Amino acid sequence: MLDTLILAGQVVVPKSSGEALRGKEMNELSIIDNGAVGIKDGVIEFIGTAEEAAQLQAKETIEAEGKLLSPGLVDPHTHLVFGGSREHELALKQQGVPYLEILAQGGGIHSTVKATRETAEDDLYEKGMFHLNRCLTYGVTTMEAKSGYGLDKETELKQLRVAKQLNETHPIDLVSTFLGAHAIPENYKGRPDAFLEEMLSLLSLISKEGLAEFVDIFCETGVFTVEQSKVFLQKAKTAGFGVKIHADEIDPLGGTEMACEIGAVSADHLVGASKEGVRMLGESDTIAVLLPGTTFYLGKDHFAPARDMISSGAAVALSTDFNPGSSPTENLQFIMTLAALKLKMTPEEIWNSVTVNAAYAIGRGDVAGSLEIGRRADLVLWDVPNYKYIPYHYGVNHVNKVWKNGKLVV
Ligand code: NIG
Ligand code: FE
Repeated sequence: MLDTLILAGQVVVPKSSGEALRGKEMNELSIIDNGAVGIKDGVIEFIGTAEEAAQLQAKETIEAEGKLLSPGLVDPHTHLVFGGSREHELALKQQGVPYLEILAQGGGIHSTVKATRETAEDDLYEKGMFHLNRCLTYGVTTMEAKSGYGLDKETELKQLRVAKQLNETHPIDLVSTFLGAHAIPENYKGRPDAFLEEMLSLLSLISKEGLAEFVDIFCETGVFTVEQSKVFLQKAKTAGFGVKIHADEIDPLGGTEMACEIGAVSADHLVGASKEGVRMLGESDTIAVLLPGTTFYLGKDHFAPARDMISSGAAVALSTDFNPGSSPTENLQFIMTLAALKLKMTPEEIWNSVTVNAAYAIGRGDVAGSLEIGRRADLVLWDVPNYKYIPYHYGVNHVNKVWKNGKLVV
């Protein structure tokens, strides 16, 4: 006897082959028409057609013929926990002041650092909860959360503890990343290496208390160089962390190549990735996490070369980059539209990028991002007639229901 049987229209079943999908494989997506999914004890017990499900018994049946059913979405790059907001920067953006200029003048990330330092742990938790609830209502059931708005021991640990507490109390599964190397704080100005050493000194405590699985760095003009990032990430790797990098987001510095060279789990942004960087992505296991919402919000015309990456055989994932500065949105559905229009990705590639590949980008490929018998039932029912519809009809929330571990949460 099943607990729940969902009778849907199309069911989206991304391929789960034990690794991220790359190159041409990203264009394969299996769809069951008039599909059905059965849940028992929080786990998927049946996947098939409504016809095959006809003889199954269930305590409750959801009649959603005509609607789309998919795995819960995975958002693999967010800056979830932060104090304050930055709506005052919108006017500066309108006047054409560049993002890195605002940062160099002590605004941008630094203004969120100030607000995060001043916000009590409980209040950060409440604010994180608010944003997480919104992510869930938009169909996300697993996501990453970075620190990086402390830039000192106390506040970085505060952010990571808040993320841990949110993971324990909210239905969304959170994967934590330590991004202490997000900017150079005022008291370390001109001494980036000393600051990076200070951040590295936190790793043993972070690992002992299980506060993060990944370490990330912002490799960018005026922040950290490729060489500094490489040394930093290699040390983090030696300390047992998976590594990620904000690379070639604004200026093309060569962070993409370096990420592949050192075996980063993901390289994120990659707007300015070089031809060589794109070629290397095609040959390495480093997943390209693309964030077109950020390019859009920074007002740029040039987007990450997703088509070249896929042609080279790379594995691509998509994410919101949710943060208060360069991408204030929790709406991964809107990112799917941008991926279609600006990255020229196909609907199949887009779905794989927000499910299976996104899960692999945060080390959750075995539990999230696909539908398989025996996997926990993280599911989204959508008010749309087919899987191509979501990138097409933009700016609104198409979610009808969300299940996390088989439990109805939206
Ligand atoms: O991914 N570029 C660095 N970090 C974030 C933005 C952080 C901020 O502006 O607060 C990003 O774009
Ligand atoms: Fe980011």
